Amino acid sequence: MKTQAIHIKDYSEQNKIEMVDFYNEATEDYEFWSNDYNMHFGYFIPFKTNPFKRDSMLNQMNSQVLKRLKIGKAKNRLVDLGCGMGGTMRHALKLHKNIIAYGVTLSGFQVQQGNELLKGKNGIILKENYNNTSFQSNSFDSAVAIESFCHSGHGENTLRETHRILKPGGRLVIADAFLKKDKTKLCKGGKYSYNKLCNHWSLEKLETHTFIKQKLKALGFKDIKVEDASFRVAPSVLHVPFAITGFILKKLLNFKSIKKESLHNLKGSFYALLSGLHMKSFGYYIISATK
Ligand SMILES: C[S@@+](CC[C@H](N)C(=O)[O-])C[C@H]1O[C@@H](n2cnc3c(N)ncnc32)[C@H](O)[C@@H]1O
Repeated sequence: MKTQAIHIKDYSEQNKIEMVDFYNEATEDYEFWSNDYNMHFGYFIPFKTNPFKRDSMLNQMNSQVLKRLKIGKAKNRLVDLGCGMGGTMRHALKLHKNIIAYGVTLSGFQVQQGNELLKGKNGIILKENYNNTSFQSNSFDSAVAIESFCHSGHGENTLRETHRILKPGGRLVIADAFLKKDKTKLCKGGKYSYNKLCNHWSLEKLETHTFIKQKLKALGFKDIKVEDASFRVAPSVLHVPFAITGFILKKLLNFKSIKKESLHNLKGSFYALLSGLHMKSFGYYIISATK
């Protein structure tokens, strides 16, 4: 039992090291995915968002997540747990003048470049681990996590730390891919794409959305709402093959080589698309709750 615990800890440490290296080297590639450096999938609303304009869907995802935070008129301290280049923070600061935004990431590149993009705005990115931050307990009104908790396998520690730093009455919104059934019950194709996806995007694992709901409840969260947004997200996932082809062509036409981290990332995007096609096994969910 003890050896197994050590093994899991080693795996988790190794995954973290690979993940930081991956984001330090491959974050700049995301400019190709999003002019605003949104490092997530989008949200499509018929007749409102243009399915051919990726950034409008990616920013709509930001808007959907922020809407669920129910930010009022009073001063609001927001934390983005796994903030990337701060795309969601900048979107939030544009929409709400009463926000002060903090972002955390483990990537030094994202801290440096993300803070450049935030210059003159009411926000800052810190190099912190969302599983164990230095923030005071009960200090935030809002917390968001878009496609970031998957890197720690949607673990209980992550949710417990989020609960600790939120004020009573504070809101949490998570947008991420989840399993629809336990991984032991995935079909052969589902298991294959799941393993490849985790490996290429340095995801410790994905949890089921039912597990998250139970854990949030056990930690004391209330008003827990789990929304299946898979069909809203699908149009932006379908951009993946075109984005990959465009990225490679641009590099080739400029006689530039492609870094190994970039290739790893591109393959990860392809496995995300492949996983998404296993609709009985994977789904994209927006989960909101109140402390
Ligand atoms: C796919 S990116 C998403 C970024 C951002 N949420 C967005 O949507 O643009 C995942 C982010 O999670 C961060 N991350 C992963 N594990 C983390 C951890 N343990 N602590 C802090 N940040 C973490 C990565 O550094 C990266 O910024």
